[in-house]
Amino acid sequence: MSNSHAHKQSPSNDATQYKLAVLGFGKLASAIVRGCISTGFLKSSDIVVWARSDARMAQAHALGLKIVDMNTCARSGGALLLSIKPQYFSELAPQLSVAPGTNVISVMAGWTCEQIGARLKANHVIRAMPNVAAEVGAAVTALSISKDCPIGAREFAVKLFASVGRVELLHESHLDAATAISSSGIAYLCLFIEALERAAIQLGLPKDIAKNLSLDVLHGVAKSASTGKVDVSALRASVTSPNGTTAAALAVLDAGEFSQLITRAAQAAKDRAAQLGQANT
Ligand SMILES: NC(=O)c1ccc[n+]([C@@H]2O[C@H](COP(=O)([O-])OP(=O)(O)OC[C@H]3O[C@@H](n4cnc5c(N)ncnc54)[C@H](OP(=O)(O)O)[C@@H]3O)[C@@H](O)[C@H]2O)c1
Repeated sequence: MSNSHAHKQSPSNDATQYKLAVLGFGKLASAIVRGCISTGFLKSSDIVVWARSDARMAQAHALGLKIVDMNTCARSGGALLLSIKPQYFSELAPQLSVAPGTNVISVMAGWTCEQIGARLKANHVIRAMPNVAAEVGAAVTALSISKDCPIGAREFAVKLFASVGRVELLHESHLDAATAISSSGIAYLCLFIEALERAAIQLGLPKDIAKNLSLDVLHGVAKSASTGKVDVSALRASVTSPNGTTAAALAVLDAGEFSQLITRAAQAAKDRAAQLGQANT
């Protein structure tokens, strides 16, 4: 299916006919849409989508979503979810004429509410930073909503992201830090699990067992911590007997300044997010 075909399918320019218009239908947008439909927050008939490639359009079509051209999409929803790659927003923004009163919600890293508002001439913009666990309904979304945002727009955004996990409301000035922890943090944990798996192989365990044990540790910690009854520091202390095996391992990690290294890594991610934002001014 080509863009021109999608255009032919589209309705005229009926403003805000849908509850949600989705601009860019990649992994994240598709996870959010699936989440909204499966929780019953939205029906597929409430959602209109612009997707660039045939493959993405086919995915949207399979979910029963209306597919339209870019500008019709920008004018079609009560809410507009911006979910394209951040580096293409400068190029696309001048082509978008957003209907007055549209609730613009962006998941694009690096673009501030002010920058997006200025490019789209939108009154208010909500910024969200979910993580890849949205694909399994276990995301945490850092959500920044300004005080002057209408209550209906605010509630819609909270429910949208609650469809794929937990929502943490915070000031936009904290969004880069949250990005460094909960979005990029997925990769730090994956790297740790990969390293644990390699260590297991090094210690002589077969590959499949190394993989299973490492992943099971992650599940165990996540499950224990998510009960709310166990604090992770207390959990660590409880498995660290003086002069025991765990203490021997932690001494090596301490000597390698493991905690400080994580802080430096997160700082680098936060700095990079700020740098990306500055490049858009
Ligand atoms: N995935 C995450 O965990 C996550 C977390 C937080 C924030 N985000 C943000 O969410 C947004 C989407 O990320 P994603 O993971 O869903 O990425 P993705 O799967 O790669 O999807 C990116 C979307 O942007 C479109 N796109 C790519 N090149 C384009 C161009 N030149 N012009 C217009 N559109 C273009 C893609 O279209 P086609 O594929 O059809 O070409 C696709 O719809 C990004 O801004 C990212 O920063 C993602």
